[in-house]
Amino acid sequence: MVGPIIQFSNVSKRFVKGKETITIFDHLDLSIQAGDFVAIMGPSGSGKTTLLNLMGGLDQATEGQITFNGAAISGLSEGQLAAWRAVNVGFIFQFYNLMPMLTAERNVELPLLLTKLSGAERRQRVQAALALVGLRERTGHYPREMSGGQQQRVAIARGIISDPKLLVCDEPTGDLDRATADEVLLMLQTLNQEMGKTIVMVTHDPAAAKYAHRILHLDKGAFTDRELAA
Ligand SMILES: Nc1ncnc2c1ncn2[C@@H]1O[C@H](COP(=O)(O)OP(=O)(O)OP(=O)(O)O)[C@@H](O)[C@H]1O
Ligand SMILES: [Mg+2]
Repeated sequence: MVGPIIQFSNVSKRFVKGKETITIFDHLDLSIQAGDFVAIMGPSGSGKTTLLNLMGGLDQATEGQITFNGAAISGLSEGQLAAWRAVNVGFIFQFYNLMPMLTAERNVELPLLLTKLSGAERRQRVQAALALVGLRERTGHYPREMSGGQQQRVAIARGIISDPKLLVCDEPTGDLDRATADEVLLMLQTLNQEMGKTIVMVTHDPAAAKYAHRILHLDKGAFTDRELAA
C-alpha cells in the first residue's frame, strides 16, 4: 500500500430544503488506501450515494476536508472539480446511464471528447477499452440492442477510458442476475488487481461485497465498523 488515495477529515454534509436542514454526515472520517477494493453497505438512506458523490467530486462537503492523493478537492470551484473528475474518477451506476442514441463505441468515447486527443487516438483507445471488457464485437450496437450485463460492461469501458485511478461504483450489479453480476464483479476485480484501480463500490448484496478487500457499514451517516474508530 502506498498511502491513502482518499481521506475524509471531519466531513459534514447537510442539505438545506426550505427551512429544514438535513444532516447526512456529521464530522465523518474515512481513509481509503490506493489500490484497495472497498465495499460500502448499509440501509437505504444511510448516505452511501452521497458518500460516493463526495468522494468522486460530484458533490461538495458542507464542512471538513476531502483529499485525493494528498491534495484537497474540497474548496475547488465547480469548473475545477469537473476538470479534476474527468482525469481522476470513473463512475459506474446501477442503471448504466448510457446515452440511448449513441452506439457502444460513441458512449465509451464521450469522456475523451473533453480531451485534446485526435479522432484516431480516441478510436484506438475506445477499441482497446471495449476489447478489455470483452465487447469487441459489439462496438456498433446501441444500448437497447444489448443485455444489462453488456450495457454495464460498456459503462465500465467508459468509466476507465480516461485511465482514472479511482472507480466509484454505485450498486453496479443491482439490476443484474447472479451470473451476470459475477461477470461484472470479476471484471472489477481484474481492474483492481491487474490495473491497480482503487475501487469503491456500494452494494446491497453480501455476495458482491465478498469481492472487496474491505467492507464498511454505513448507518444513518456513520460507519459502524470498529476498525474505523481507531
Ligand atoms: N440533493 C438532496 N437534497 C436533500 N436530501 C438529499 C439529497 N440527496 C440525498 N438526500 C438525502 O440524504 C439521505 C441519504 O441519501 P443517499 O442517496 O446517500 O442514500 P443511500 O444510502 O444511497 O440510499 P439507497 O440505498 O436507497 O440508494 C437520504 O435521506 C436522502 O433523502
Ligand atoms: Mg444510493
